[in-house]
Amino acid sequence: MSKHIVILPGDGIGPEIVGEAVKVLAAVNEKFSLGLTWENQLLGGAAIDAHGVPLPDVTLDAAKKADAVLLGAVGGPKWDAIERSIRPERGLLKIRSELNLFANLRPAILYPQLASASSLKPEIVAGLDILIVRELTGGIYFGQPRGVRTLENGERQGFNTDVYSESEIRRIAHVAFQLALQRNKKVLSVDKANVLEVTELWKEIVTEVAKDYPDVQLSHMYVDNAAMQLVKAPKQFDVIVTGNLFGDILSDEAAMLTGSIGMLPSASLDQNKKGMYEPCHGSAPDIAGKGVANPLATILSVAMMLRYTFGAEAAAKCIEDAVGRVLDQNLRTPDIYTDGMQKVGTQEMGAAVVAAL
Ligand code: IPM
Ligand code: MG
Repeated sequence: MSKHIVILPGDGIGPEIVGEAVKVLAAVNEKFSLGLTWENQLLGGAAIDAHGVPLPDVTLDAAKKADAVLLGAVGGPKWDAIERSIRPERGLLKIRSELNLFANLRPAILYPQLASASSLKPEIVAGLDILIVRELTGGIYFGQPRGVRTLENGERQGFNTDVYSESEIRRIAHVAFQLALQRNKKVLSVDKANVLEVTELWKEIVTEVAKDYPDVQLSHMYVDNAAMQLVKAPKQFDVIVTGNLFGDILSDEAAMLTGSIGMLPSASLDQNKKGMYEPCHGSAPDIAGKGVANPLATILSVAMMLRYTFGAEAAAKCIEDAVGRVLDQNLRTPDIYTDGMQKVGTQEMGAAVVAAL
């Protein structure tokens, strides 16, 4: 297996946090003799500025050839006013779709050191370990028809289509059940089957797939209730599987339970474990260029990459342990800072992780 990575720093804080993650990658590559190579390409606003489109062919071709992709974040106010079809976010959606990265894994893990940074009471979140499995290449994000049309009376009307085929539901359900087997063997499927036919089918197919996994306990919840339960009693959850839009929303909510979205990595995988790895947070234009962004989510995304795509468990664990150690040293970027801790910037945090490896 070749072992090549395409790095897409993107926009906003993307280049800063990816810069630190690549230092960590380089260090473990050497320490564990992983034989990984990498190259940088443009995506999002940076690509629009250079090539006029958010996902240039050269980026897409390189990503298709690579074994894994590491992404920072895309988007920012600079590109908000340009035509919808070539906005930075469209580049992200297109690369997910072109690479067939249908399975988005978003762990929400509370580091014990950060319990006081959560907006919930420590006893509600202590020990929290949820894995959200979000379907990433279907649903209302990609459904046709979509657009804004002008009605006969001159009024404009926006419309999108939420659509899932059985095979799309089946394959993401299998991913969720298989991951649950390696965890606490519980899957919650989130739907809105009381109103939306598309999620009624979702519920039916997930229930069918569950028969292949007699050791896993399946339950169902409507999305509104799931949103409520996540802040009421989040520790009841193990694996949560849901569609693209609900997964987008619930994963941000789950992230916040852990104190900061700046801590959470994600993996987007295809059928063959090729993956794109990125922090769950966005490009944070308000703090871009200030050297204060938290690089840990991106660094932890490198760990996920080593684990899921390259099967390098020891190297992945080494990074995760190093992150634990810098938190033990009380180093905190502003997003996870609490009284009595030592405030550090992006580069200091990255350097501390490299030192702790
Ligand atoms: C995410 C982001 C993206 C999404 C945006 C930037 C298109 O919010 O990865 O969760 O909605 O999928
Ligand atoms: Mg989101």
